[in-house]
Formats: sequence, C-alpha cells, structure tokens
Amino acid sequence: TRPLRIAPSILSADFARLGAEVQAIAEAGADYVHVDVMDGHFVPNISFGAPVMKAVRGLTDKIFDVHLMIAPVDPYLTDFAKAGADIITVHAEAGPHLHRSLQAIRSLGRKAGVALNPATPVSVIQHVIDDCDLVLIMSVNPGFGGQSFIPESLTKIRQAKALIGGRDIDLEVDGGVTADNAAAIVAAGANVLVAGSAIYAGNDPKTYGNRIRAIRDAASI
Ligand code: DX5
Ligand code: ZN
Repeated sequence: TRPLRIAPSILSADFARLGAEVQAIAEAGADYVHVDVMDGHFVPNISFGAPVMKAVRGLTDKIFDVHLMIAPVDPYLTDFAKAGADIITVHAEAGPHLHRSLQAIRSLGRKAGVALNPATPVSVIQHVIDDCDLVLIMSVNPGFGGQSFIPESLTKIRQAKALIGGRDIDLEVDGGVTADNAAAIVAAGANVLVAGSAIYAGNDPKTYGNRIRAIRDAASI
C-alpha cells in the first residue's frame, strides 16, 4: 500500500494571514499543501492564482499539490510550475486535450495529476493513465469548501484504484473529507486525503495538529 498523505487545503485558510496559515499546517504535520485555484468559469467561484501561491511557496519545503479548476488550463501551466508547484492537477473536463495537458506538465518537470468531477466516469482516464502521476476523485462538486462528501464517490475510488493497479500513482480524494469518513475512503483505495474545513475551521492554528492527527489516525487502517 502507498503511504498515506494528508493534504490540507488552504482554500479554508484565513487569507489575511495566508503565509502564517501555510506555515501552521506545515508545522502541524501536513504532508502536502493543497492549493485550490478557481477561475469563476470552470467552477462558480474565484479563489487565487499563481502570484499568491508563489508568495507563500518559500515558507515551507512541503510538497505543493496544485488543483487547477480553470479552463482553459494549458496557458497557465508554466506559471504554476514557475511558482513552485510540485504536483499540477488538471480536470479531465477542462478541455478536449487532456493528454496534451498531462504531457505539458511532465515536460515542465512536474508531477501530472488528473481530476474527475462527480459525474465523470473513471473510464475517461483509461487511455491516459500511464501519463498520470496522481488521480484526484472529487467527492463534492468543485467550487466551494465545506460541502458534504458524496457517498457514491466510494464506488469511483474503488474503480480508480482498480485502473491504477500496481502503477506508481497517487489516488487522492477531495471534498467533504473528515475523520469520520477517512477510514472508508482509504479502505476504498485512496492514499491522499485533502481536507479544508475539517482542518482550518475556526482558523485557530493551535487546533491544526490535533485535526490532522485525527484524520491520520482514522485513516491508518
Ligand atoms: C473544492 C476544493 C476542495 C475543498 C475541500 O472545490 O477542490 O479542495 O477546498 O474543502 P472541504 O474539505 O471543506 O470539503
Ligand atoms: Zn481541491
């Protein structure tokens, strides 16, 4: 089994103190820093872009896991690579040329991820699976933090795990992840858990360590 990774989403951070919020989760035991980029077009909300990410990138040496909810996406891949992304994930629904996007990310020397919205079948990535370093199953409709986990996502996680087989590919789940459902998500085959509100709610850095630990403990099955 692949190592468990906890990836707090800075979408739920206090943006007025973003740098401190990134440092706080790094010190609290996060494995990845999950960066949710939204364009108000592919998803019905706007978050932040590469300049904001770049401003906080140097504050920790954690892996920056960048989830691009933008379309078109190809024109911005270089910006995110330069801003210090380690993993760049594009949505399968973001355009007609997913294979090109994945190849472009790898040619920038970054790990290439592909995300699937709740209505998108796993079969969409069947023919690009060897071009992926990470598969992201969205367990809510992307655009907002704080939504409830869609139970059908567990079926998709199992299908994605079967498609991945023994390949060196992370299986990430994003949306509504809590200490209460982490065990089921990992049992279905995921090894990277994104959590926004479950870690950042209240924005009190003193709570982050316990919250990350609660998810990690629940997921360590
Ligand atoms: C949703 C984002 C998620 C979100 C997770 O569009 O991709 O990363 O911030 O937030 P929670 O954990 O609150 O569902
Ligand atoms: Zn995300």
